[in-house]
Amino acid sequence: MKALKAIAWENGKLSLLNQTLLPVQKQTVTCHTYDEVAEAIKTMVVRGAPAIGVTAAYGLVLAARSCAHENRPMMNTLLQRAKSVLRQTRPTAVNLFWALDRMEKIWLDNPDSPVSELKKMLEAEAIAIDEEDLARNKSIGRHGSELIPAGANILTHCNAGALATAGYGTALGVIRAAHADNKKIHVYADETRPLLQGARLTAWELLEDNIPVTLITDSMAGYLMGQKKIDLIIVGADRIAANGDVANKIGTYSVAVLADYHRIPFYVAAPLSTFDLSIATGNEIPIEQRQHEEIRKINGVTVAPENVKVYNPAFDVTPALLITAIITDHGILKPPYAQCISALAGLNQCYTEKKGCTP
Ligand code: MRU
Repeated sequence: MKALKAIAWENGKLSLLNQTLLPVQKQTVTCHTYDEVAEAIKTMVVRGAPAIGVTAAYGLVLAARSCAHENRPMMNTLLQRAKSVLRQTRPTAVNLFWALDRMEKIWLDNPDSPVSELKKMLEAEAIAIDEEDLARNKSIGRHGSELIPAGANILTHCNAGALATAGYGTALGVIRAAHADNKKIHVYADETRPLLQGARLTAWELLEDNIPVTLITDSMAGYLMGQKKIDLIIVGADRIAANGDVANKIGTYSVAVLADYHRIPFYVAAPLSTFDLSIATGNEIPIEQRQHEEIRKINGVTVAPENVKVYNPAFDVTPALLITAIITDHGILKPPYAQCISALAGLNQCYTEKKGCTP
């Protein structure tokens, strides 16, 4: 079976699988400009922390390619403008800022390179970010599979799969690896209201790979835990603070509290690009607030009074003390997290300099 790829860069063209339409329609959107890339991230044509980072990196390549003159100052201004537009798309996933900062390093470190040369360097860097993410996810999968007992029933929330990354996935990477290791696992996917990433994306992605999956509504998770139907939980992350607090899709915190009450292991899977060493705790993570229509409607169908007040935070923060382990591409981190996370800093150049990561 061909590996699922949400982001494709081919011959200078960026194609994104439109995740707002899945699983009903399988359509791709082609982006020609960085503005189109920004719009695709904002409207969640592409979503998931690592996928947003990879896409934004290609957005800067498109910006560079649009510079028609051999004029470095002009090119630098254009790239800074594009970077600032891309930074303002979604605030929570740190991978976006990480990837943009990594791309910026190329033009800042090479002030004398001609425009034509810089274009090639930026493209090579975006491809490296893309390919590295895939490799990191496979490594997360290898490490994480060791934690999965044979026959495990695994609960996951949102979509931290191939669709949310350069491929293979983080939480679903662990699930894919355990399945490949013939552990005969079974997955429960939370539907993940309001945008149903669990129902629309995780369920679809796992079925495509013949991994046994059962869909539940978010409100059923506690009941299933009480019935001893869940052996462990694995989720992805949008940003991990220096103390191990984790921002992830809204509803993750509730699942972690339920897991703690029922004494069920709660694992987070994430690559190094998701760690933000510039912030001490999860309290500093900016939480995206989204449109009210996402709650009043499901797939465009009104399900609430049109004038009802709505609150729609897209993410929540799970405190480190509720997390059994964090599965990274560099191995499994166990509590207390502060020390092992700071040891990772040396491997993640962007954040050793304690750069700010908010838009
Ligand atoms: O709003 P989304 O769909 O971008 O949120 C995605 C998540 O919360 C994922 O769990 C997270 O980005 C990890 S993806 C590997």
